[in-house]
Amino acid sequence: MMMVVLPSLVLALLCLLRAGAEVPVQPGFDAEKFAGTWHVAAIASNCSVFLKMKDGMKSSITTISFTLEGDVSMKLLWPMADKCQKFELLFQRSGQAGHYVAAQEMRDLRVMETDYSSYAIVHEFKRSGEEPHSAMQLLTREQDVSPQLLQKFKELMPTVGLTTDMMAVLPKSDQCTKDIR
Ligand SMILES: *[C@@H]1O[C@H](CO)[C@@H](O)[C@H](O)[C@H]1NC(C)=O
Repeated sequence: MMMVVLPSLVLALLCLLRAGAEVPVQPGFDAEKFAGTWHVAAIASNCSVFLKMKDGMKSSITTISFTLEGDVSMKLLWPMADKCQKFELLFQRSGQAGHYVAAQEMRDLRVMETDYSSYAIVHEFKRSGEEPHSAMQLLTREQDVSPQLLQKFKELMPTVGLTTDMMAVLPKSDQCTKDIR
């Protein structure tokens, strides 16, 4: 009896675990429409460094572009103290549109939801290091964010294992706007 029941139970559990780990991606994702400049209006993450710093963070700017191969580059402008700090992140395309990977750091980036013209919600999962962590960002084309968008963002948080106490709504900043290219 055990011999028969156990394997199917294990399979069922594996299915559940896999289903739980699968973060949704915007159906019919269109990279060309997603490219361009976005303001990072809110972030939620269970990364301990972020949780310590989140109350001092200001809204940053990310400019997204795609290579001919379909890989993505994110140029970040981050207001820090009195400077505008610049970073660049690169992700390779995966087999699924809207899902990108940075293999070396074992990072996954997924565009969960977007209307391309006003908002996008992206998810990042980092597996390497001692502390894997999950993060979500609310991107907006305009610097102002509506309560409806924040509500949508909060509603998606539990689907990736985050709670509202891990969220920061980032105050507006003009420190980096002149550096947008
Ligand atoms: C963050 O959440 C992810 C997904 O739920 C989990 O795998 C990871 O261990 C968590 N990390 C921390 C530092 O709590």
